[in-house]
Amino acid sequence: EEHSRGSASSAEVEIIAHRGASAYAPENTLPAVDLGADIRADYVEIDVQMSSDGELVVMHDTTLARTTDVETHYPDRAPWNVRDFTLEEIEALDAGSWFGAEFAGTGVPTLQQVLDTLRGRAGLLLEVKSPQLYPGIAEAIVAELDGEGWLQADSRAGRLVVQSFDWQFMEQFNELAPRVPAGLLGGPPSEAQMAELSAWADQINPSHTRVTSAFVDMVHRYGMETWPYTVNDADRMRQLIDLGVDGVITDRPDVLIEVVDEE
Ligand code: G3P
Ligand code: CA
Repeated sequence: EEHSRGSASSAEVEIIAHRGASAYAPENTLPAVDLGADIRADYVEIDVQMSSDGELVVMHDTTLARTTDVETHYPDRAPWNVRDFTLEEIEALDAGSWFGAEFAGTGVPTLQQVLDTLRGRAGLLLEVKSPQLYPGIAEAIVAELDGEGWLQADSRAGRLVVQSFDWQFMEQFNELAPRVPAGLLGGPPSEAQMAELSAWADQINPSHTRVTSAFVDMVHRYGMETWPYTVNDADRMRQLIDLGVDGVITDRPDVLIEVVDEE
């Protein structure tokens, strides 16, 4: 740990900026990623999908409609699926104006741009969003991470966790990249599933509303960690830290840093 925050126990809580520091800048854009690193989150979380020409782009929804001006440019291409647009078309969109006029002209980043922004500054929590829509996305992500130096055992690029709500996909991803810590979003699983999951996965990351003391203890008994999402309220952050979670995923990493520093 490069941080020297709080007591030994609280200093172990990882601070993860959700979709970047997305309370303060448009989610899944370079300004949000950059701000997450500036605030000194331990990790920045992003969502990765694929363009029609096979490029890895950073976007939460499987359509471009909510966070870009795609409808204005392409009124006839509803429902504006990410997978139906080329990288060139996606890069020409405005992904900042919906959030605030000061972010007008901010684009949809590629995974490569996020890796460049985070390198040496913060770790990456990479969520593979809806992988069943994107044949070949696991291989493409592994190639990109490897090419950018994030898979080497002694990588100084940054720490890395890959996660998905699709647990079958994560098991396949883990076969391709066994050294990358694997996170399972959602659940929690039953105790009966834990031995099998813990044989290859490293984290169970449910909604914070599903986290109980029994769940945290079960995860730890199987040698795994839990980083629940998405917690923006300081009191709830304190409760979860008291329950023993290993990280907290938040839109407000500055609030979490203050909470951790109180301990
Ligand atoms: O990192 C956890 C969280 O991002 C999962 O939910 O919908 O924000 O991708 P969502
Ligand atoms: Ca996500």
